[in-house]
Amino acid sequence: MPSSRLKSLSVTLFVSLSLPPWAVQAASPEPVKAVHGMVVTAQHLATDIGVEVLKNGGNAVDAAVAVGYALAVTYPTAGNIGGGGFMTIRFKDGKTTFLDFRERAPQAATKSMYLDAKGDFVKGASTDGYLAVGVPGSVMGFEVARSRYGTKPLSELIEPAVALAKEGFVLEEGDINAFRGRTDRLAKDPAAAAIFLNDGKPFAVGEKLVQADLAASLSSIAEKGTDAFYKGAIADQIVKASAEKGGVLAKADFERYAVRELEPVKCNYRGYDIVSSPPPSSGGVIICEILNVLEGYPISYMGYGAAETVHVMIEAMRHAYVDRNTALGDPDFVENPVSKLTDKAYAKEIRGRIDPFRAGVSATLIPKGFGESKETTHYSIIDDEGNAVAVTYTLNGSFGAGVVAPGTGILLNNEMDDFTAKPGVPNLYGLVQGEANAIAPGKTPLSSMSPTIISKDGKPFMVIGSPGGARIITITLEAILNVIDHGMNIQEAVDAPRIHHQWLPDKVFMEPYALSPDTRKLLSAMGHDVEIDESWTIWGQATGILVGGESLADIEAGGGARYNGAVDSRIGAGAARGY
Ligand code: DON
Repeated sequence: MPSSRLKSLSVTLFVSLSLPPWAVQAASPEPVKAVHGMVVTAQHLATDIGVEVLKNGGNAVDAAVAVGYALAVTYPTAGNIGGGGFMTIRFKDGKTTFLDFRERAPQAATKSMYLDAKGDFVKGASTDGYLAVGVPGSVMGFEVARSRYGTKPLSELIEPAVALAKEGFVLEEGDINAFRGRTDRLAKDPAAAAIFLNDGKPFAVGEKLVQADLAASLSSIAEKGTDAFYKGAIADQIVKASAEKGGVLAKADFERYAVRELEPVKCNYRGYDIVSSPPPSSGGVIICEILNVLEGYPISYMGYGAAETVHVMIEAMRHAYVDRNTALGDPDFVENPVSKLTDKAYAKEIRGRIDPFRAGVSATLIPKGFGESKETTHYSIIDDEGNAVAVTYTLNGSFGAGVVAPGTGILLNNEMDDFTAKPGVPNLYGLVQGEANAIAPGKTPLSSMSPTIISKDGKPFMVIGSPGGARIITITLEAILNVIDHGMNIQEAVDAPRIHHQWLPDKVFMEPYALSPDTRKLLSAMGHDVEIDESWTIWGQATGILVGGESLADIEAGGGARYNGAVDSRIGAGAARGY
């Protein structure tokens, strides 16, 4: 070997040996650092509004409410008041809670409402137009959060969103990306087209999006509270449009809408306390189930992206998604085996069924009798006192059902597609689900949304979540593994390419570059069917905060920044900002 090559080899060896094992330096920008508070959202104007609330003495819940309303204006593909979502809160004293403000099925909904006379699934019925709409929960959710745990008046928190809707905001490249490919869908609904298209054409960078009707709806909520939405003119306008266009929403559905405050799901992974979404989300339960399985393997030692690491991740996902798709549903309608699924003994049993050298076969796991660009958004906030809030909320598909009730400016969700329209028929996200998630009046469809807060030794450690349909669970999980097991900093952890398995179809989906050709060969030899999925929108957009340092190594070394925020590089218009 020529001496110059020898020299460079020894330099490389020296550098890699002298760095601590966790000092990975991936190709990601530095996390954003702040001392008093951090807000990470999918749209920078909404982030700024959240930071302003914190600076003005509001707490993380106040900021979450203001951001929720702001995203309804600046991020119309997913930010909403016509949809629903979940909020996980960890208070400064360590107490935790969870608000379920997801959509409920209208009273006139039936189990077979998306099937034709022959019993076949009618494509589009659960995703397009008013029949796809569930009773929205966001307005009630934000108000319950604010009145129970916030400190600021509602009008103060909505006001910035009203101004943005009324005066409009200039669209940047990242904003325009969210509209890409949506023109035909939005053109179908005249009220949606009048707002979200510019004379029938897509908006261009530099143009202004003004939403006068939405400004008026938001102002009436600011003035009259939730009644304006659930008992007044807004509900009337939505019900009227629904009746005229084949929907089944009734005024009584709005009047009876109630938020549920639930105990979050909790588990412990390698000493870290995870708090996440309980049913009607599958998110927290399935993240815990997968983490419990993985805890039995030396993931950190096996290494990021190694075939054996990916193999056990796939197998844990495969087993957990069987449970997700067959056993879980709205807790008011079905018994959810949460304690069994989050039990370490059950995880051990699953490990016993995983062959270390061979891929499992999904078809053999179908339980006896077992007969989604998509859009959601997640934001993470932490305030000066250490109160942390994680919110994931959604219209389900991009721009929801693609309809706006005339006069309201409010895009409506197509969340009904998250139910099992017909056992065995995949939904928008390819999920094949069962009876526990069948449609019933007043029922909430099973979700994957996973707003998650992690603490260590009683102190907040990480706030994390993502959109991504069925992949929300594995996206959130992988960000956690990347930080805890692989030592990545928070930015690298949300940016790293991902893999996903959801039991059915029996395939490993990988984001471009997630696995090297060598690793793919090893996995194929084990029997895995690995497919590159280039549809970028489905890989989610995580937003995370790490407390005490940008990575575990930084935290352990001491002296790291208090708050470290990272907005997924897949997000066009987002921002992590603090003060
Ligand atoms: O609740 C759920 O699981 C879905 N409605 C989430 C949809 C979603 O994440 C779409 N975004 N990519």
